[in-house]
Amino acid sequence: MSTGVVVSAPAKINLCLGVGPVRDDGFHALATVYQAIGLHDHLTVHDAPDGEDDSVTVRAADRFPVAGVPTDGSNIAVRAARLLAEHTGVERRVRIAIDKGIPVMGGMAGGSADGAAALLACHTLWELTTPREELVELAAELGSDVPFALVGGTAIGSGRGEVVTPLMTSGEYWWVVLESGTGLSTPAVYRELDAGRHGHVPAPEIPDQLMQALRGHDVAELGAALSNDLQPAALRLRPELEVTLDQGRLASAHGAILSGSGPSCLFLCDGRSHAVRVADALGAVGLGAVSFAPGPVHGARVVARGAEPAPEVR
Ligand code: C5P
Repeated sequence: MSTGVVVSAPAKINLCLGVGPVRDDGFHALATVYQAIGLHDHLTVHDAPDGEDDSVTVRAADRFPVAGVPTDGSNIAVRAARLLAEHTGVERRVRIAIDKGIPVMGGMAGGSADGAAALLACHTLWELTTPREELVELAAELGSDVPFALVGGTAIGSGRGEVVTPLMTSGEYWWVVLESGTGLSTPAVYRELDAGRHGHVPAPEIPDQLMQALRGHDVAELGAALSNDLQPAALRLRPELEVTLDQGRLASAHGAILSGSGPSCLFLCDGRSHAVRVADALGAVGLGAVSFAPGPVHGARVVARGAEPAPEVR
């Protein structure tokens, strides 16, 4: 068994998510501000034993199901390994173990985090020197949110989300994250959005108020400026989440919004102790699994080399 590499990759949230018209390639034009927050997936990659194909195992804390995560070649981490191998002419197979800390199908780009983590882990394991920009281009081939999972921090996303421009922001934000036991399909939410739209759809924009709030690190103003064009569509599919968002506002959060295509809900807080209070208040009314995390945090990065063989856990 080879020496392994462990990479962590963060969840993403969208502080605003402007969704424009459908493009010729079927994707929607986006204008978004991403933020990476401190919930992470960890991915361990080893060379596969001789003669073995790529493989992947997935495990998570009991609180969220991983049954929806594929464990064959369609898993985004395996696709990332194959893409990098083909791009660089490497003829090696890998054994991948994913530890989920990001809700599955939660609108927090957990799959994209695994894709980004696999690119970086294989790049490190195979001792490649592929330029960073090339890795970001490969990430875009895997999915719209994958480049941001590599970059992290706070950043503008344009195109279909894959064009990432880092923003220099100061200070930290604290988010309470409320997971839902049942995931939502991102394509289904986009379809619901399109079904409710008629006539001309304007190009998406980033609200000035949001940029101003970020420049001044004004938590109350940021809370008021949070926006998500996917939210009405997601709430039509899951109306009960409206009550959840109201509960967060009642619990004194500065802003309450669905994360991306949902169903995870986000509540913006003043700091860690405020986040603990809001999380406690939501827990007290029986609202699912609550965690809290700071943002912005780094994108995908190598956290260990020479790790033990990947566990065979499912
Ligand atoms: O890029 P990714 O594979 O993550 O996208 C998942 C799905 O989300 C797409 O197949 C599409 O249905 C929808 N999507 C979209 N417009 C975007 C990004 C995603 O319609 N800009």
